[in-house]
Amino acid sequence: MEKQVKLMNQYVADLAVLNVKFHNLHWNVAGERFEQVHVYVEKLYDILFENYDEVAERLKMIGEYPLASLRSYLEVTSVEEIDSKDYKTPEVYEILKEELTNLRALATEIRNLADDENDFGTVAMLEDQIGGYDKELYFISQALK
Ligand SMILES: [Fe+2]
Repeated sequence: MEKQVKLMNQYVADLAVLNVKFHNLHWNVAGERFEQVHVYVEKLYDILFENYDEVAERLKMIGEYPLASLRSYLEVTSVEEIDSKDYKTPEVYEILKEELTNLRALATEIRNLADDENDFGTVAMLEDQIGGYDKELYFISQALK
């Protein structure tokens, strides 16, 4: 359970930092299909923001405290922040793909730990989130063809 809680808090931190990173891309995307990618990134950070709240509330349900400060997020996150500058649309898609792939891997690791603990509420929540990442990774892979 201890490792599961630690990774759930890392997941909370990653989602929080990605909320900022994806806003950066939303604001700074440039070039072909600008508006389409601008709107698409907004859809993604809305999904991540919902997942962020859902995972933090799940930590409360299992009797734990979610990390809840920007300082603590930066201490534990594995997300690399990026400069505020122009990002061409293919570059934006590549960054989105990498970040969603990482989130999917972390959510899967936590899902499997929760399953070992018979923590089915966490398993169900994460399976839904993973299904959501799969759908967006499919959209992104089609856009990158
Ligand atoms: Fe906006």
